Amino acid sequence: MSSLPLIQRPRRLRSSPALRNLVRETHLRPGNFILPLFVSEKVAEPVAVKSMPGVFQLTEQALVAEALAAHQDGVGAVLIFGIPAAKDALASGAYARDGVVQRSVRAIKAAAPELLVITDVCLCEFMDHGHCGITHFDGERAHVVNDASVKLLAQTAVSHAEAGADIVAPSDMMDGRIGAIRSALDAAGFQDTPILSYAAKFASAFYGPFRDAAESAPSAGDRRSYQMDAANSNEAIREVALDLDEGADMVMVKPGLAYLDILWRVKHEFGAPTFAYHVSGEYAMLKAAAAQGWLDEKACLLESMLAFRRAGADGIITYAARELARWVG
Ligand code: PBG
Repeated sequence: MSSLPLIQRPRRLRSSPALRNLVRETHLRPGNFILPLFVSEKVAEPVAVKSMPGVFQLTEQALVAEALAAHQDGVGAVLIFGIPAAKDALASGAYARDGVVQRSVRAIKAAAPELLVITDVCLCEFMDHGHCGITHFDGERAHVVNDASVKLLAQTAVSHAEAGADIVAPSDMMDGRIGAIRSALDAAGFQDTPILSYAAKFASAFYGPFRDAAESAPSAGDRRSYQMDAANSNEAIREVALDLDEGADMVMVKPGLAYLDILWRVKHEFGAPTFAYHVSGEYAMLKAAAAQGWLDEKACLLESMLAFRRAGADGIITYAARELARWVG
């Protein structure tokens, strides 16, 4: 049988690994991946997070070891979350000089000065009620007080910078916090500490497992009065524009795979360094399916990371950062 008279045959460039390699448009490097780590004042040894296989609440010592190992694997940075022994209504542990995050950052920077350390700037892990700001309750309704919370967030960011954090990453979604954090950092002499803003952060059920890991679930109410409505895309663009105007150096879209359209728009409208968060629920789904033998974990993780990169992410925050860095290194 004779061939069809086809001039365009896209399959020509797919015929061997070498050809596919030659025309590949998107690449993964170890430095693309940022590893979130949980350090807890409440544990005497690492405690596994049930809903996130492979993730642990770490002691300060184990945290340093894990950060060093991640550095060896070539990850781009680590992102630190702290769980304090005691919580209160003003999140005082969040901005304490010797708080769990501040001590941990000092310890990591002493052990691995070259490793980039990012701190999550939020109050929820330190508030007795689990909300991301100062909160008044009216029965089941939680009213988060924006401007007073922003002051505490700015204090928190400065205390992280004082401890040696290379980058601060506010994840609270209060209005005006980027500008307030920028001026507080500048006033304290940290003009050169960059801000990675969780700029378009949606109220998402995919954060469920994280709240087990960070012990930060709200005791009443939900986060819908400050995190974004999953239905909105134009609003995400407005949020990112505001944060860049207020001085964000880098922006983040969160969650990940279900929000690739937002990621694409943000990268293409602003061209700023843009990050995506492959969040706890996404990680948990993959791990659970892989444990059943229903999905190939490595292949699905790599494919997911390519999707983030294709959509415009410069880097991806993922609980699988160490494995990924090794696989692509
Ligand atoms: C804290 C914070 C959350 C996440 C990152 N920072 C939880 C939340 O907003 O409830 C979620 C990360 C994940 O699910 O992996 N504000």
